[in-house]
Amino acid sequence: MPTVAKIARLEPEAGASQYQEHVNPQWVRLLDALQMNVRYLRCAGVELDAEGGRRFLDFLSGYCVHNTGHNHPAIVSALQRELGREGPAMLQSHVSDLAGELAQRLCSAAGGRLEKVFFCSSGSEGVEAAIKFARAHTRRNGLVYASGAFHGLTCGALSLMDDAFWRDGFGPLLPDTHPVPFGDLPALEAKLQSGDIAAFIVEPVQSEAGIRLPPPGYLEGVQAACRRHGTLFVLDEVQTGMFRTGRFLAAHHYRVDPDMVVLAKALSGGLIPCGAVLMSNRIYDSVYSSLKRAIVHTSTFSENNLAMRAGLATLDVLDHEHLGERAASMGDYLRGQLREALSGYEMVDEIRGLGLLNGIAFKAPRKLRMRVPFEGFRNIHPAMFGQLVVMRLFRDHGILTQICGNNFMVLKAAPPLVVNEEQADEFVHAMTAVVDLMHTSASFWTEALGLARRVGNI
Ligand SMILES: Cc1ncc(COP(=O)(O)O)c(C=O)c1O
Repeated sequence: MPTVAKIARLEPEAGASQYQEHVNPQWVRLLDALQMNVRYLRCAGVELDAEGGRRFLDFLSGYCVHNTGHNHPAIVSALQRELGREGPAMLQSHVSDLAGELAQRLCSAAGGRLEKVFFCSSGSEGVEAAIKFARAHTRRNGLVYASGAFHGLTCGALSLMDDAFWRDGFGPLLPDTHPVPFGDLPALEAKLQSGDIAAFIVEPVQSEAGIRLPPPGYLEGVQAACRRHGTLFVLDEVQTGMFRTGRFLAAHHYRVDPDMVVLAKALSGGLIPCGAVLMSNRIYDSVYSSLKRAIVHTSTFSENNLAMRAGLATLDVLDHEHLGERAASMGDYLRGQLREALSGYEMVDEIRGLGLLNGIAFKAPRKLRMRVPFEGFRNIHPAMFGQLVVMRLFRDHGILTQICGNNFMVLKAAPPLVVNEEQADEFVHAMTAVVDLMHTSASFWTEALGLARRVGNI
């Protein structure tokens, strides 16, 4: 066994090669192939400083974790103070005042019937809890979800996702889970008819499915159908929550009052894992129904002081810096600029989004000159085209982005909510340059050959 002293003396480069050896070599291979394997030295706000003096703008936000920006000084210092006070961090046998305070503030920000909170440490864990609570409350087994959803990769959450890539090889998953097309009320109604559906779990804006906004009236219709059939209406706001779309919850853009809401990601400032399931008193009471069931569903790190403190400090920053209003206005600005710059390019299908959760949707080209290489690379791997765009933005323009996990034709643009106009303009210029290149230069497509060679055996 290496001693602690030996571990502490290791150079950072050694850590990278040990990561390759002991954590995830395929991830290292992928980042190398995309020419995105850089060492970051300092991250603040929207900016990432990397080795060699390079600077990147983060338009990915760690999959919507960094709503308050990287390492927000107020959240960092709140955590430092929390550590310094040497309080009861993980006693497991006390009443956590910080959890009480955070729960009260979350419920008051969420409103409606959401009056109790179960804390956990990730989005998937929150979805798992929502599944259990829905079953316990309704005494039904069935679960309905929307096609293309992303709810997390633990077995229960994965049972609510129909994309074969994530599921294959990991079954059998939960039985009695049923997909319906997002936006299709009659399909949902037909599933609910059975009378055995505990919950419909849905993202108010589908993120990984390609930033899909609900059709007008859809969520209101979902709620009415759920109420008619005694099914719980559960919103997964893991990505959309915490002002990402301009309101505290994306639900607040619509006239709905969900029975449960799952939050995680940006809840704790991108620094400490934290998730929360907000629910009505009635649901809570049916799970924690007696003294002997006081901890019938719990988890060791739930309510830990650092996560709770980070949550409180994050809410303060979101509030004091008016980041909801900022997300709304910067989102409008970004989409406007993108539409102006990219309309007229054949492969750009649509710019869409809400607040600072945005997508640039591409479509297959008609012109032979582009269609032949496009189809060729799509045959190698359906994500190849999107990854080329991500790679170009990163390498040539210093912009970090990703394509949507369940829709490889949509590039996600979701910067921290502290992004300013100058940074948004830099993104739009970079995006325009890459889109222009794919329409005007063979080099965009020949580059893909290099990528295919580097990737080799996928
Ligand atoms: C909408 C949504 N729900 C749930 C999850 C799972 O969250 P976690 O990765 O924290 O388990 C994700 C993760 O990306 C998500 O986007």
